[in-house]
Amino acid sequence: MKNEAELIQAALQAREQAYAPYSEYKVGAALLGKSGRIYTGCNVENASYGATICAERVAAVKAVSEGEQSFEVLVVAVGGDEPGSPCGICRQFLAEFGIRLRLILVNLKGDRIDTTLEQYLPQAFTPDRLSKG
Ligand code: THU
Repeated sequence: MKNEAELIQAALQAREQAYAPYSEYKVGAALLGKSGRIYTGCNVENASYGATICAERVAAVKAVSEGEQSFEVLVVAVGGDEPGSPCGICRQFLAEFGIRLRLILVNLKGDRIDTTLEQYLPQAFTPDRLSKG
């Protein structure tokens, strides 16, 4: 894998771009594609709150729109007392591209959780299930 420290740094840096005037909860994400490319994202909020998009989905959408659909690791960086936890919509969105995705969840204090999407979204509804209907 590409340098893990580099990926964490990319997520922390992406967090700086967060547009979060309503929640003031800034999130950064860095998604490592199988190609070795890193796609970053931050949360982008909206006065119409429901239009807000999370950092993880911004990173994934950037990647897919640039031709990459296979991923190895996703780093999510937040500023709280403990590392964050990808929301349910993001878990489902990411599961589309591989439930075995590694997750590294960090905060600014250096706390870190190593896990997988599979652990965070057990019994996921993945594309292969559509063919079993
Ligand atoms: N948020 C993310 O960007 N990622 C997550 O995993 C959790 C939530 C954002 C959405 C919103 O801008 C703010 O955090 C508070 O919910």
